[in-house]
Amino acid sequence: MQLGTADMLPDPAKHRLVIEKPFGKDLTSAQALNQVVRKVCDEKQVYRIDHYLGKETVQNLMVFRFANAIFEPLWNRQYVDHLQITVAETVGLEGRAGYYETAGALRDMVQNHLMQLFCLSAMEPPNSLDADSIRNEKVKVLQATHIADIDHIENSAIRGQYTAGWRDGRMVPGYRDEDGASPGSTTPTYASLKLYIDNWRWKGVPIYMRTGKRMPKKVTEIAIQFKEVPFLMFQSASRQANPNVLALRIQPDEGISMRFEVKTPGTSLRTRSVDMDFRYDTAFGQANTDAYARLLVDCMLGDQTLFTRGDEVEASWRILTPLLNVWDAPAPPEVIPLYEAGSWGPIEAELLLNRDNRRWRRL
Ligand code: BG6
Repeated sequence: MQLGTADMLPDPAKHRLVIEKPFGKDLTSAQALNQVVRKVCDEKQVYRIDHYLGKETVQNLMVFRFANAIFEPLWNRQYVDHLQITVAETVGLEGRAGYYETAGALRDMVQNHLMQLFCLSAMEPPNSLDADSIRNEKVKVLQATHIADIDHIENSAIRGQYTAGWRDGRMVPGYRDEDGASPGSTTPTYASLKLYIDNWRWKGVPIYMRTGKRMPKKVTEIAIQFKEVPFLMFQSASRQANPNVLALRIQPDEGISMRFEVKTPGTSLRTRSVDMDFRYDTAFGQANTDAYARLLVDCMLGDQTLFTRGDEVEASWRILTPLLNVWDAPAPPEVIPLYEAGSWGPIEAELLLNRDNRRWRRL
């Protein structure tokens, strides 16, 4: 508001406003913030930063999907069994308790970074590359998305908090023992969700997402698991059908791999899974521009494509608000499932997929 009072944004062609997350803490506060922003400037002047959109591999998602003819025909409910989006981090609180205690994994990672990865994986092809065409498609897919079982949220969303554990050969403290964290804190450092998209392309295809701090490994990946073959006539080395998986490795070890079955050499007709792998470093060398630098240059050039529009942020908060209402309710510390630092999250998160006869990828 003060920017308006001080008349700092008078010229839409010259003056731009860059906003770092968190943009609100739920749907109502994001709407209120958007109203304030609109009072002092035009949406065309607003650059809401999500640094994931500045990552090369995230920008490549659209190119991969829409510059190749062979993937898009399979990218739908007829062929895809489910999607898994993983953003695992090895870091803990890193001295940010003041912020993190009020945010937790849903606000810190899911509402922005994971939702952006989700949008780019699930949206329809935009009409053109201009900022609004792309952002219109993201808003559309977000508007069609909801937590799988909203009446039994515990079946569709799992939270967790890390306890002490080992990391690089040294003991690291549990979340509640980190500087500035409350000893009875119920702030989630891990979240996994199951979502559905109600549209023609995706109806009935579950989208599983997970993110956590103090995981065994830093890895961000989008995996598209295809359906099993209708009838398995070969003997598989693992004695089960091994569906094809397309894995888009966002970071580190940037690349794309496709898993498929081949015959193992020998007289018997047995199959095994192998990977066809594309690696950024072998193809292009290490050419990683800093995501923030890239975004700030785009802002100076007046290109809003890689920035989040007001209605997009609201649409993303709308999906998560029912869950936030449950997770934010005052509760005793025991309410939150715990996981040891250096593990892949609470056991409850495994069950989220096991109940559907699926499992998280071992990364
Ligand atoms: C930030 C979060 O937005 O993203 C941090 O606030 C998180 O908690 C970070 O660690 C992860 O970013 P990156 O680029 O390291 O995956």
